[in-house]
Amino acid sequence: MCGIIGYLGPRKAVDVIIDSLKRLEYRGYDSAGIAIHNGKKISIIKRKGKISDLEEKIKENPLPGNLGIGHTRWATHGKPNDINAHPHKVGRIVLVHNGIIENYKRLKEKLTKEGIEFYSETDTEVITALINYYYKGNIIETLMKAIGELEGSLAIALITEESDNLLVGYRKDSPLILGVGDGEMFLASDMPALLPYTRRFIPLDDEELVVIEGKDYRIMREGKVINKKITVVNWDPISAEKGGFKHFMLKEIFEQPRAIGDTIRGMYSFEDRDFYVFKDNNNFDLTKLSNIRKIMLVACGTSYHACLTSKYWFESLARIEVETEIASEFRYRDLLNLDGTLAIFVSQSGETIDTLQAMRMAKKKRAITLGIVNVIGSTIAREADIVTYTHAGPEIGVASTKAFTSQLAVLFILTLYLSKIRNTLTVNEVETYYQELLKIPRIIENYIKQANREMEKLSNNFLDYQSFLYLGRNLMYPIALEGALKLKEISYIHAEGYPAGEMKHGPIALIDNRMPVVILAPTGKVYEKTKSNIEEVNSRDGISIIFTDDTNNELDDKGVYVFKVPTIVEPLKPFIYVIPLQLLAYHIANKKGLDVDQPRNLAKSVTVE
Ligand code: G6P
Repeated sequence: MCGIIGYLGPRKAVDVIIDSLKRLEYRGYDSAGIAIHNGKKISIIKRKGKISDLEEKIKENPLPGNLGIGHTRWATHGKPNDINAHPHKVGRIVLVHNGIIENYKRLKEKLTKEGIEFYSETDTEVITALINYYYKGNIIETLMKAIGELEGSLAIALITEESDNLLVGYRKDSPLILGVGDGEMFLASDMPALLPYTRRFIPLDDEELVVIEGKDYRIMREGKVINKKITVVNWDPISAEKGGFKHFMLKEIFEQPRAIGDTIRGMYSFEDRDFYVFKDNNNFDLTKLSNIRKIMLVACGTSYHACLTSKYWFESLARIEVETEIASEFRYRDLLNLDGTLAIFVSQSGETIDTLQAMRMAKKKRAITLGIVNVIGSTIAREADIVTYTHAGPEIGVASTKAFTSQLAVLFILTLYLSKIRNTLTVNEVETYYQELLKIPRIIENYIKQANREMEKLSNNFLDYQSFLYLGRNLMYPIALEGALKLKEISYIHAEGYPAGEMKHGPIALIDNRMPVVILAPTGKVYEKTKSNIEEVNSRDGISIIFTDDTNNELDDKGVYVFKVPTIVEPLKPFIYVIPLQLLAYHIANKKGLDVDQPRNLAKSVTVE
């Protein structure tokens, strides 16, 4: 985890770095630090806590200089404290790091025997010491030599005491982006961090080194300079700010109509009667998709819930066998040959290490790999055979919301695409579904303020509860899981999502008059069955909180609380039912005074195992 920034240019480096680090704080906020070269020497300020704490300390010690590096940490090795905070300095080398060095203990022992003293518990100090140990004046040669001894993942930014004109970056299995400005250069863990300064980026690939000297840069691989294309992004920097909302999460919930709309726009042409789903097919022959026999969907967290939802779509509309798997489990399976399998990897960040490694494994087993990611140029986007993007824009709140519904949108379009090429739906049927999907942004737009009011009011009743149950069947089961995940992530209330029909095999024992039970009961295929589950909750005095369609009045007196959501076609109901659940979690966490955007112990992009 962790976020890193590097800057070399005419501005005051400390200002650029602190400002950019704030946009990376979602990657970790255990400690923060900065190192600035003032032309004579490097000064380092670092401390436990958030960037705002670091800023306070900098006010006491202004740091002049035009070259610097900064870091916001999510602790892996060593407690979050001042000493373990980055940057680390050994001899003439100062460095920040994101990743984990697996053999750092062995290296530390070796260097200790050479008389080198260590002050922190971090693997990062070991990298710094190793580089300094080999350093005789040529930083590139030294770095290549040291990196050869490191096992694990690393993205680093490094400066040396000798030069106030040299900034070096390297990546392997952790993200690092080069930002190309006008007479100034940047390094960062992601693009949004640098949007106020530049829109021109070069995402580094694994084992690439970038050397920035003055206004020039060169990217090297295996010691040779290589040419890489600059990617220009059109993300609006304002969209990375809070835009009047108290929290990013609330803003992002409200942004969903826009995010879904941007995602689906242009993915189908009524004129051509054809789909335009894949943005980068890296020369992959798309006709092979007609012959797939099976789909595997792999992801983590909220993205996994999007996969689980789409399983129902792929099965019922595209009539294809589907398996879903959590990435950290998928990675350690003894898989057979995956010939004829389309393996889909869903990730907002495109950097989640378990999802990335699962994808690499599926590729080895000969699956066709498809990445569905939000961050352009992220590692999954670059390494998948084919890629399609969600256009949710930067998602800052650690708890994912707009990325989720945007992922659903892509997965639904993919279902229609496969249904069309497999002839399980006629073109007319495909178009009817696509038309329904196009209506979703407007329907959410019209509903969201009502949902916000209702959930804000409802939240007052549950601020001191210890536990929640969320129940749903069929398409509502993954939504129940997602509702429960949102609540536990940000409000720290234990919440369990369960298939409603399975309740009687365990969770029913928990139900009493202190147990709120959220029941998702849309009309349709499993409605009658869900009604029985409502009775089971009510007869045990559970506090039933029912959500159903606004055309259904049958449940009006069946719950302690009953809420109506817009009635839409059955397959698309997940888009609507998840909205009040996101808002309920938000308002409970907000009223409890918790840090909604940066909940404890979590991070936005999990780039360590
Ligand atoms: C973390 C985040 C979640 C996210 C999950 C997967 O746990 O806190 O919000 O759903 O990672 O991330 P990805 O970027 O792969 O979708």
